[in-house]
Amino acid sequence: MICTIPGGTTSYEVIIKSGLLQEISSFTSFNPPLALITDDTTAQLYGKELYEFLCRAEIKTHFFTLPVGEIHKTRAVKETLENQLFEKHLGKDTCILALGGGVVTDLVGYLAATYCRGVPFVIIPTTLLAMADACIGGKTGVDVPYGKNLIGCIYQPHKVLIDPLTLKSLPLKELKNGVVEIIKHALLADSTLFEYLRQHSHQFFTQDPQTLEYLIQESCRIKIEIVAEDEKERGKRRLINFGHTVGHALEKTSNYTLSHGEAVAIGMLVESYMALQLGFLKKNTLDKIHDILLQYALPLSIPLKISTQSIMDAMILDKKSHQGHPRFALIQDIGAPLHFNGTYCTEIEESILLNALNWMCHDLCRH
Ligand SMILES: NC(=O)c1ccc[n+]([C@@H]2O[C@H](COP(=O)([O-])OP(=O)(O)OC[C@H]3O[C@@H](n4cnc5c(N)ncnc54)[C@H](O)[C@@H]3O)[C@@H](O)[C@H]2O)c1
Repeated sequence: MICTIPGGTTSYEVIIKSGLLQEISSFTSFNPPLALITDDTTAQLYGKELYEFLCRAEIKTHFFTLPVGEIHKTRAVKETLENQLFEKHLGKDTCILALGGGVVTDLVGYLAATYCRGVPFVIIPTTLLAMADACIGGKTGVDVPYGKNLIGCIYQPHKVLIDPLTLKSLPLKELKNGVVEIIKHALLADSTLFEYLRQHSHQFFTQDPQTLEYLIQESCRIKIEIVAEDEKERGKRRLINFGHTVGHALEKTSNYTLSHGEAVAIGMLVESYMALQLGFLKKNTLDKIHDILLQYALPLSIPLKISTQSIMDAMILDKKSHQGHPRFALIQDIGAPLHFNGTYCTEIEESILLNALNWMCHDLCRH
């Protein structure tokens, strides 16, 4: 699969194949020196093996690790890594391999974008979220105390190499975080993918390679189609925030006890309920969305202490907000987003917002 970015200046190949990591050099030719960067967990699982393989193949490679987790997606960790690369005398001719989940690919992508004013990088995602979502579109960056992903840039990789077999070691919670983004892509753009998801949850949970490859491929295809039209998120790319205005607010107000996937799953339902109230979406479509989220074992419940007011306050800080009013990407049917004259998001009357949040607190979570 090829991802082409508008203007035709950048395009890169996305290769998805079970077992790819075992025979990586048949899928790409590496231009050494390489800097293989991963987190501590992924290093133990796949990083060391890949490093040893590259060394055996006499491809000059340096190996670097960062600590695990979102709290380490920081400017400080990026700086530490940059210094480590300089100490190895790595220069402009270095190719960086980012091996890991979205934390690694975002941080290392940003490092690649700025190191010696930009060096090529290859993404080797190892979580479902990174395979089905984060590896496409070129968003890179780090978190700061003021918020997530607030420092960064758009920088496209040289190649994306996806081996779904690496998901075997992924905890179920992380697998579910990833499938939520696949469901989101189906809801935004493809009713056939939605049907496939409905019929293949068993194969998903048993990690049937063909099913995973298909789901990742379709999810990447849809994201490529969306970002290819709007690399800088001025219109259509806002769609990928479907479920995220409410979702991010839930993550924050729950003090991150809800995972990203769990929060976005609830967010997609609440935002669909808003579309229902606005007369855009039918009740039976809302029910189908609810059912598929349950089918993929998403809990759809929020901690009791969260109030509608705290969610309203958190939503105002969303990046799509306009003059203090949150805006929402909405769908009118499965696979059919709402355009709103090319802005792909809309403000919503406060009474409808409150209704939807009350529905979430009182009906949905007791469903
Ligand atoms: N750039 C984008 O377009 C984009 C899109 C969505 C999300 N993101 C970013 O992605 C990040 C979240 O990514 P994530 O969910 O992959 O989290 P993550 O990178 O923190 O990975 C989750 C956990 O899984 C571990 N792990 C990774 N691969 C594994 C494997 N194969 N087996 C076992 N454990 C494994 C990691 O060490 C980590 O503990 C967030 O920072 C988010 O902002 C970016």
